[in-house]
Amino acid sequence: TTHELRDRYGRVATDLRVSLTDRCNLRCSYCMPAEGLDWLPTDDVLTDDEVVRLITIGVQRLGVRDVRFTGGEPLVRRGLVDIVARTRALDPDVEISLTTNALGLARTAQALKDAGLDRVNVSLDSVRRETFEQITRRDRLDDVVAGLAAAHEAGLQPVKVNAVLLRGVNDDQAPELLRWAIGHGYDLRFIEQMPLDAQHGWSREAMVTADEIFVHLDAEFDLAPAHEPRGSDPAELFLVDGGPAKVGVIASVTRPFCGDCDRVRLTADGQVRNCLFAREESDLRTALRAGASDADIAARWVVAMRGKRAGHGIDDPTFLQPDRPMSAIGG
Ligand code: GTP
Ligand code: 5AD
Ligand code: SF4
Repeated sequence: TTHELRDRYGRVATDLRVSLTDRCNLRCSYCMPAEGLDWLPTDDVLTDDEVVRLITIGVQRLGVRDVRFTGGEPLVRRGLVDIVARTRALDPDVEISLTTNALGLARTAQALKDAGLDRVNVSLDSVRRETFEQITRRDRLDDVVAGLAAAHEAGLQPVKVNAVLLRGVNDDQAPELLRWAIGHGYDLRFIEQMPLDAQHGWSREAMVTADEIFVHLDAEFDLAPAHEPRGSDPAELFLVDGGPAKVGVIASVTRPFCGDCDRVRLTADGQVRNCLFAREESDLRTALRAGASDADIAARWVVAMRGKRAGHGIDDPTFLQPDRPMSAIGG
């Protein structure tokens, strides 16, 4: 039997975002502190077999059509290539993608492609060495650039680049980043920062808004709405100087797209989260390890979707940042 992951508002989740680890080899200032975080105990992290089993239940019983692997940094997970291959073996048509910082991607891009990965989204906030190091606290820009090139060459396309702008740090580099991405054939998207950092340092005033991003870009480019059907894509797309080059803006905060949300998340420790900003999780790991059947796990997952709220509520006076940071939820 097949069920749907339908919530009370009629939204159906078909896009499963699977966090494979909460660890990361960068320390982006808007994500986590320099010293890192208290990583999940190894025993709590799902094994490769457990992850694949939950993905299988999602695909075969619950209508999942897109699987995205995230982290932390998913490339630090040893079994990644194997997990991708086993996901591909489930279904030739499921779209499989990866959101990564690209460290080490130069070495694994071809193996990931061969395993059945379709495409990658890479986080890159600056193409200037000093700014990259200032934001990520690591001098690794060259690895990211090489990883992007390898992904493109391996046919993991379209290659998307995600950039978060921080006022006074890299916001004035938006045009430079866009020119660089277009020159390399990557699809750049600027992202509004959300209150999901481990330090709880986010503030609405400090966040660079979509409107501000347009001000920076309009100074050097002619942007026009791309008028493409958007569906559940978080990015609004704009043609750059008449096209074909495009740029995306993911305005999660000032122009929320929660009404069209088709996502559900699985954390590295086997908890289903029906929203990035969910206050509750459903513990599939414990059920799994207690010997629950596939049907039983699927039923728990269906129930988990009923509590999905209409939206993130960042603007509500009662808004509370979720306990777990983005790095532990999966981006
Ligand atoms: P595509 O399928 O390539 O469009 O992937 P994506 O944009 O959904 O995934 P990616 O991991 O590249 O996410 C890019 C950014 O979009 C993230 O950093 C988040 O800021 C934002 N984002 C992703 N998923 C969600 C979500 O479910 N809700 C909200 N509000 N923002 C999200
Ligand atoms: N708000 C928005 N995007 C974020 N990312 C990390 N933290 C945040 C945040 N608080 C981005 C990363 C990466 C993607 C997975 O999420 O830059 O591109
Ligand atoms: Fe979906 Fe929650 Fe993201 Fe809104 S904030 S798009 S409801 S996951």
